[in-house]
Amino acid sequence: MITIDELGGLRAQVESWRRGGNVAFVPTMGNLHAGHLSLVRVARQLADRVVVSIFVNPLQFGVGEDFEKYPRTLERDMAMLEGEGTDLLFAPPLDVMYAKPQDQQTRVEVPGLSSLLCGACRPGHFVGVSTVVCKLFNMVQPDIAVFGKKDFQQLMVIRRMVEDLAMPVRVVGVETMRESDGLAMSSRNGYLSTEERAIAPVLHRVLSGIAARLREGDDDYAGLQVQATRELEENGFGPDYVAIRKSDDLGEPEPGEARLVVLAAAYLGKARLIDNIDLTR
Ligand code: PAF
Repeated sequence: MITIDELGGLRAQVESWRRGGNVAFVPTMGNLHAGHLSLVRVARQLADRVVVSIFVNPLQFGVGEDFEKYPRTLERDMAMLEGEGTDLLFAPPLDVMYAKPQDQQTRVEVPGLSSLLCGACRPGHFVGVSTVVCKLFNMVQPDIAVFGKKDFQQLMVIRRMVEDLAMPVRVVGVETMRESDGLAMSSRNGYLSTEERAIAPVLHRVLSGIAARLREGDDDYAGLQVQATRELEENGFGPDYVAIRKSDDLGEPEPGEARLVVLAAAYLGKARLIDNIDLTR
C-alpha cells in the first residue's frame, strides 16, 4: 500500500492507474472498524484499484462536539487497510485539505436535505460533509465512491450533490455492519462505558419494532415515533429524534406511504449513536 499526504503525488498515481483500469474510493475519518473494511471489500470487488482516505474533517464538527477527541489511530488503520489489499492511502494534513482559515473556505451546500434530522440537530454538519467529500472527489478523481448506509442521510446528501453538480462518480451504498447484538458498528461506539455498551443495542431493537409495525400496515407514524422516543428515554438514551420518513427525500410521509425509512439519533452518555432501517425493498 502506498501512503500519500499531498496532492501532486496522489493525482499522478491515480491518473496512471485510471489509464489502464478503474479506481474506487472509500473516504473515512479513520479509527477503522469492520464496517469500514466491508466498504473497502466492496470497493475491491468493483474496481481495479482502491484508494482510501483518512481525514478527520473539522468542518463537519460543531462547537462542543468531539473533533479534538475523535480517535486518531493511523498506525492501526494502516495495518487494517494493508490487510484488505488497499492500493493507496491518502492521509492529508489539515493544511493540504484547507489552506485557508475555515471562514474563507469555499463550501458546497445541498439545500433542504442538509437541514433535516441530523442537519437540524447539528447545524452546518452536512455542509462540512458535502464540502470535504466534493474536495476529496476532486483530489482523488475516482470512478466509484463507496459509503456506508448507516449514515443514511449523509449518503443521500452525497448522491444529491453528485447529481446536482454532474460529478462523474458512481456512488455505491453498502449495508450497515452490526455487532452480534444488533448494534450498528461505529467509531463512536468506543465512547460507550461497559454499562452503556450493554444498553446500546436497544436503539436497533426499538427501530426494528417500528419497522415490524410498519410492515404490518400501521401508519400512525406520529404515534409510533412518540412511543419509540419514550422507550429510548426509559432505557437511558437522550434521543435527538426518531423519525419515519419517505426514503427518497426524507420528507414527512402521508398515511399509506410505501417507501419508508425509520431513522434515529440518540445520545447514550457521551456517544451520539445513529441508526436506520430502510423499508424500501
Ligand atoms: O462518514 C464519514 O466518515 C465522514 O462523514 C466522511 C464521509 C469521511 C466525510 O468526512
